[in-house]
Amino acid sequence: MKWTILLLPIVLLFFVSCESDNIEDLFKETGCNTENIRFSSDVLPILNTHCMSCHNSLAQLGGVVLESYEEVLFWVNNERLLGSIKHLPGFSPMPQAGLKLDDCTIEKIEAWIQEGAPDN
Ligand code: HEC
Repeated sequence: MKWTILLLPIVLLFFVSCESDNIEDLFKETGCNTENIRFSSDVLPILNTHCMSCHNSLAQLGGVVLESYEEVLFWVNNERLLGSIKHLPGFSPMPQAGLKLDDCTIEKIEAWIQEGAPDN
């Protein structure tokens, strides 16, 4: 009995230290920061990384261009941007042919939209 009580924290520590090796888990522990999301420094870089290969003004797949604030706002206002990245029924799941964005990235975009999708 005494041994298990002594061992428990050690075993727990072992697991915690192992998990901390994983940067994504570390991030989960600190939570997802959705405060003060900016279009210029948060939203646009996400779109540049995950969407721009298909939604730049040359490719315009599906007639969707996400280069400027005004273009992004159009797809925010008709609710298709959030529906597609959240893989909601009735929307084309985005990024097409790619992995779904991680939860925190989606939460950031959603938080920005809930703030009124400002051009900041
Ligand atoms: C590999 C190419 C590709 C990538 C990457 C991609 N898309 Fe698309 N997207 C398409 C195509 C093709 C269509 C039109 C056909 C369709 O709706 O499935 C489309 C359609 C859309 C639509 C309209 C969906 C609807 O239901 O009306 C939105 C909004 C959109 N994309 C947003 C995004 C966002 C945001 C990202 C990044 C997170 C992204 N796309 C990444 C190819 C892509």
